[in-house]
Parts: sequence; structure tokens; C-alpha cells
Amino acid sequence: MSSLKRNFAALISSLVLLMLALFVLSVVLANSADAAESQDFPVPVSVNALMVTMIDHSAHYIWDYAALEDMMLEEEWLAVEYYSIQLAAAGPLMTLGGTGEFDNAWAISPQWLSYSMDMSNAAMKALNAARLQDKFLLETAGDELLDACLACHRAFKPEIPSEGVIHDPLYDQLYHLFQREGAL
Ligand code: HEC
Repeated sequence: MSSLKRNFAALISSLVLLMLALFVLSVVLANSADAAESQDFPVPVSVNALMVTMIDHSAHYIWDYAALEDMMLEEEWLAVEYYSIQLAAAGPLMTLGGTGEFDNAWAISPQWLSYSMDMSNAAMKALNAARLQDKFLLETAGDELLDACLACHRAFKPEIPSEGVIHDPLYDQLYHLFQREGAL
């Protein structure tokens, strides 16, 4: 009789443990489903920082090579291709907001979206020029790119960068990475 009781108690406590385990599992699964649904993965840096470290940087490769008077080498076209891809992808990234003071307000403006698209489209043209190794197309893409930067800056850029991150001179040594006879 007492062994029957013991078995019964063991069965009950196993069932209680199993229920607890299932409960914990359901909470964990519900939480991860919530996270997946809300796509809550905010951009962890500011627009100002992205401008300086990524956008300005990759754009300079396009402009500097477009302005180069000599024939471009194979690996130089490859560098333009690489940075054009980076810049093209930076367009949609800019529409996700960021940690800067005004970043999320800028990101919801239709004008901001339109300028970001212009920038990305110009970068895609530079990518095409690099793949075709066509200097004239690269120059046209570079001009279009400059128009996109300036138009957005005229509309949105504060007089003083919101986080104080500027192109010059902080990251300047990183800019014109290519060194070549006759280069700029
Ligand atoms: C969709 C709008 C938009 C586009 C397109 C854009 N920018 Fe910006 N950029 C801004 C804003 C806004 C700031 C100021 C950010 C701040 O102060 O928080 C900024 C800041 C900068 C800065 C840092 C401040 C400084 O004066 O040094 C640089 C450099 C820069 N942009 C370069 C570029 C270049 C180059 C392009 C084009 C290839 C470009 N931007 C395209 C909106 C844009």
C-alpha cells in the first residue's frame, strides 16, 4: 500500500515538473514570436556617424576615380564596384532611423525617403559603370550622386552636425586610400 502511495506521489511530482517545463517553454516561444513579429531591431548608430564613416567614405571612391585623368586599372574598377554596392545599400539603411537626436523624425519624412532613393539609384549607376568599366558613365553617376547628397543636405542637414561627427579632420586619413602616381 505504501509503495503504491510512493509510486503515485512520484507520478504526480513528475507530472507537475512536466507541466512546469511546458509552461516555461510556451513563455519562451511566445516571447520569441513577439520579437519576430515586431522586428524590433533598431539601427544602433546615428545618421551622422553613418554619413561620415560609410556614406561619405564610399562616395569619395566614386568621385575620386571619376576625376582621375589616367586610365583606370582593373583593381580600381573593382574598388569602385565594391564601394558602389556599399553606398547603394546605405540608402535603405538611412530610412530606418538611428540613435541621433532627429534621426527617427527624419526617417518618417517622405522627402527623406525620396533623397535616400536618389542616392541609392546614383550608386547603382556607378556600380553599372564599374561593371562596364565605362568612365563616362561613372562621371555621370558621380554628378547624379552629388546632386542627391546636396539636395538632402539643403533640406535636412543642421548647420552643426547633431553629434558633432564631421568628415574633417577626424577620419580624414581614411579617405583617399588609394595612392597612385598622378592620383588626386
Ligand atoms: C536623405 C538625406 C541625406 C542624403 C541623401 C545624404 N545626406 Fe549626408 N547628412 C544628412 C544629414 C541630415 C546630416 C546631418 C546629420 C546630423 O547632424 O545628425 C548629414 C551629414 C553628413 C556628413 C557629416 C557632417 C559634415 O559636414 O561633415 C557628411 C560628411 C555627409 N553627410 C556626406 C554625405 C554625402 C557624401 C552624401 C551623398 C553621397 C550624403 N551625405 C547624402 C542627410 C543626407
